[in-house]
Amino acid sequence: MAISERLSMDLPVIDLDVFRNRPRDSPEVQAECQKAADALIAYGALVLHDSRVSEHDNNVFLDLLEDYFAQPEEDLKKDERPELSYQIGVTLENTEKPKCAVDEPCLRVIERLDPSERPLDITAHSPDPKCRFFWRMVEPPPYETQFPGLNADNITPEAPHIKARWAPVMNQWGRSMKNAVEGLTEMAAIGLGLPAGTFKGAGTYGPHLLAPTASDLNKYGRKDTILAGFHTDLNFLTIHGRSRYPGLHIWARNTGKRIAVKIPRGSYLLVQAGKQLEHITGGLIKAGYHEVVVNDKTLDVIDLRKRRFPDRPLVRISSTFFWHLSSDYDLTPIPALAHQARQVRAEQFDLGKDEGEEVEYPAMKVGEQVQSELKHIALMAS
Ligand SMILES: [Fe+2]
Repeated sequence: MAISERLSMDLPVIDLDVFRNRPRDSPEVQAECQKAADALIAYGALVLHDSRVSEHDNNVFLDLLEDYFAQPEEDLKKDERPELSYQIGVTLENTEKPKCAVDEPCLRVIERLDPSERPLDITAHSPDPKCRFFWRMVEPPPYETQFPGLNADNITPEAPHIKARWAPVMNQWGRSMKNAVEGLTEMAAIGLGLPAGTFKGAGTYGPHLLAPTASDLNKYGRKDTILAGFHTDLNFLTIHGRSRYPGLHIWARNTGKRIAVKIPRGSYLLVQAGKQLEHITGGLIKAGYHEVVVNDKTLDVIDLRKRRFPDRPLVRISSTFFWHLSSDYDLTPIPALAHQARQVRAEQFDLGKDEGEEVEYPAMKVGEQVQSELKHIALMAS
């Protein structure tokens, strides 16, 4: 299918309820799955509606994480595991570097954007001023994995006001997002002409992570502060709940307009494509570039929350879940999709959209792909 020349600035909304409640072979379900696949091809992102998702759960989760990251640094440090490449527990601010600042293909993506649509300048940007917590939500593989380091045990914070509520709240909200994103993997597979379980099966034992990030807006609340510099995610699909503070920008197929993401209130989530989905589709779906910055809308909400909730920590929590393929899975482009990727690339070129040099997607284990990405973002010693 051709990607329309003028994409709407509103992301497509895909209804998981239609997929879950109607017969699989009904025209409505087939159409909704096609819409999901088309949205991922055209935007690398979509808004997902799932009536099982509760805004209340997201709020309870955001409150817990605000309390957690408001703790003194020496308490947070107890939850750090540098020896495991920070793939479990906490990562403190100024550890993770946006790979793009030193990555030629990524810098060329920025160059190809119209100057008015570019991200905030990352060339002088030091590591991101954001903290993060990684909470694994995995099914242990029934085989011996070649990548045990990516499959370590969870850490529960010690502080008495956090410890007891930690696991239940993390698991409740994490499960909501995991169920939703797994449903979407089935819809996307069907929309791409594959058996429904193609991606879900490949990710059954993936090292999925509930990965909230936190930015201290007392320290980093000035206009045009980069909270997370322009980058793509290394996993398969990333799913987000609504953050209390705007500031996430995405780029449709990495060539067009900067889109300020708005997730509607209620049972809605945002989904973005990551590198593993790009790899397995041979570039038909591209991992979506994004940044998190302090913009005018962020400032408005900072102001509002200072007045309405003066006793709450002024911390921007991003409610993020990274869904991965299994580490031992052989990652290689699906031939029919790689073929379609070349067609879409040619169509884009005809529309005057240069997508840059053709990317190679060599066969490798998913675990190898993850390790090579982590080296680039300075979380793993090379
Ligand atoms: Fe990201």
